[in-house]
Amino acid sequence: MTTYKAINLVARPTGGPIGPELFEVVEKPLPSVSQGQFLIKQTYMSLDPAMFGWMSPDTNSYIPPVGLGEVMRSSGVGEVVESNHPDFQVGDHVMGMFGWQEYLLTDGKGMNKVPAGVSDEMVLSIFALPGLTATQGLYGIGKPKSGETLVVTGAAGSVGSIVGQLAKADGLKVIGVVGSDTKANWIVDDLGFDGAINYKTDDLQAKLDELAPNGVDVYFENTGGEIQNLVFNKMNTHGRVVVCGMIADYAKAVPNPGPNWIPMIKKRLTVQGFAMPDHFGEIPQLLGKLTPYVTSGKIKYRAHVIEGLESAITGLNMFFTGENQGKLMVKI
Ligand SMILES: NC(=O)c1ccc[n+]([C@@H]2O[C@H](COP(=O)([O-])OP(=O)(O)OC[C@H]3O[C@@H](n4cnc5c(N)ncnc54)[C@H](OP(=O)(O)O)[C@@H]3O)[C@@H](O)[C@H]2O)c1
Repeated sequence: MTTYKAINLVARPTGGPIGPELFEVVEKPLPSVSQGQFLIKQTYMSLDPAMFGWMSPDTNSYIPPVGLGEVMRSSGVGEVVESNHPDFQVGDHVMGMFGWQEYLLTDGKGMNKVPAGVSDEMVLSIFALPGLTATQGLYGIGKPKSGETLVVTGAAGSVGSIVGQLAKADGLKVIGVVGSDTKANWIVDDLGFDGAINYKTDDLQAKLDELAPNGVDVYFENTGGEIQNLVFNKMNTHGRVVVCGMIADYAKAVPNPGPNWIPMIKKRLTVQGFAMPDHFGEIPQLLGKLTPYVTSGKIKYRAHVIEGLESAITGLNMFFTGENQGKLMVKI
């Protein structure tokens, strides 16, 4: 009998680095394919900071936690290797929520075909969660206007790098906040950002004042941390704060205190959080907005590929150390 590997979540993280004690690697028999079903061999699996939330026991979030003993949740890309489904043929490349496993049997619900000519790495780096999140947050909440100033944190990451490039293409002044000089050089020299702040080594206030002398109109927040209050204090009247992620707080028992609310009134700021599952019904419109920027060469990406299903377990820690250089994914 042919088997395949899957990884189940068996314990909840307690704040330290993610380790093998949270997971169980299991072998399962390859299922047979009934009428109306097809079998996918996953080729690339996305790793996302959201996984820390999905592993936590918090039932008060936008999506239920992964149950203990269940296959860990993730999106991915794969190839149809056997099909009894009229709409999906052997050889088709598809994307969807596959989980941490080598194969997936499905009836096609929630599965989307990958257009010919788009590589699996590009799908996960741009057209899946990173690009959709950047597009929804920037245009749905940030409402950028040419000539304005935008600050994006996590700027060399998969979401932040796309946000900055979209805003640059739209004529904004774009400042990225990153955790290393290598990342700072990448966003300025290769992606065309106007400036970068290294939140680990720079004098944050001085650098922010230097790069944003006219204040900040759009603040796309991916990380939280010390810089948050400083950027918030520089928001211009009618500024927009897009609250996308707070990775600096994900492993903390007590999150950092946020900014005071009085400036929101005085400056009539919009501060809005969002979560992409609310917008999965709008994917065609979001792709319609994003794709022309990509096809006209305005969006560059880098895929950070690690190899083998089990590499996901410790690979997740790269989000906290900042070791990931671009979109983190597992090649299976
Ligand atoms: N709202 C939504 O629907 C949605 C969807 C997707 C993603 N997100 C959120 O968006 C954010 C970015 O996600 P991503 O997939 O693009 O990840 P990413 O930026 O590719 O990777 C995470 C990066 O966060 C930075 N980081 C880690 N700890 C930090 C800290 N204490 N302070 C400041 N920066 C820190 C690291 O970069 P440095 O080396 O620069 O520190 C790390 O590389 C995450 O917070 C994620 O949860 C939200």
